[in-house]
Amino acid sequence: MKVKELFNLEGEKAIVTGSSQGLGKEMAIALAEAGADIAIVDINLEKGKEVVEEIKKIGRESFFIKCDVSKEKEVENMVKAVKNKFKKIDILVNNAGIVNNFPAEEMELKEWEKIMDVDLTGVFICSQKVGKIMIEQKKGVIVNIASMSGIIVNNPQPQCHYNTAKAGVIMLTKSLAAEWAKYNIRVNAIAPGYMATDMVKRAFPKYGKKWIPLIPMGRIGNPYEIKGPVVFLCSKASSYITGSVIVMDGGYTIW
Ligand SMILES: NC(=O)c1ccc[n+]([C@@H]2O[C@H](COP(=O)([O-])OP(=O)(O)OC[C@H]3O[C@@H](n4cnc5c(N)ncnc54)[C@H](O)[C@@H]3O)[C@@H](O)[C@H]2O)c1
Repeated sequence: MKVKELFNLEGEKAIVTGSSQGLGKEMAIALAEAGADIAIVDINLEKGKEVVEEIKKIGRESFFIKCDVSKEKEVENMVKAVKNKFKKIDILVNNAGIVNNFPAEEMELKEWEKIMDVDLTGVFICSQKVGKIMIEQKKGVIVNIASMSGIIVNNPQPQCHYNTAKAGVIMLTKSLAAEWAKYNIRVNAIAPGYMATDMVKRAFPKYGKKWIPLIPMGRIGNPYEIKGPVVFLCSKASSYITGSVIVMDGGYTIW
């Protein structure tokens, strides 16, 4: 197979969660540019509709579904709606995620639970509901957006709930990859370092000076830099790769 063909996603149908902005939006556009039709799934309707319009301009089909990934019923309805519209689901990118910062000794249980619900349980719920369809199809690709925070402890901001959830995403990725390989479903993860989205821009004024010297490449990532890894993992270019984690962190985790 020629390289151009390996990366071609024409005819593929994809769900990207948390795709109204940030990394999710970049990945939705990347998959559309590679040829896929995209369901934009998020809690932010206004921004999500803008992404739908951008994808239509690329010449691909797209629609928005409002869904909180941590609510099982909402996910069930979302997956049904996508299946009805697209007739199949080839690609799921579990990207929706949130973060905040509390020292462990002061963290209220509800803060721990909120991060776990969205960042870890949400990935499980979406994977399970879409996974059932992929099992029937005997075909599918899942990409989970973990974080370097699932591998190292960020310095200096305290966020034990987020780091633990992201470590969980990495192990969930490996577990699902092992269970579902027999159904021709590949499950991989991307572990980004600091990327210039709203999530990081909010914290940068407080922590940025400390972060930059810890990154061998000396800069935070641009959101578009996730486009290559996600197209690679969703396409035939990575057909023998499952249970893997692509770390894209400007080298943060090597020091
Ligand atoms: N930006 C970074 O530096 C960075 C680094 C590592 C990992 N990540 C991960 O990448 C993912 C995307 O982060 P981002 O930086 O683009 O953040 P962001 O805050 O810019 O975007 C997150 C998107 O997810 C949506 N969302 C939040 N909760 C949701 C829910 N319950 N259900 C559905 N959608 C929901 C938001 O509305 C938003 O559109 C997250 O999982 C984050 O943990 C980000």
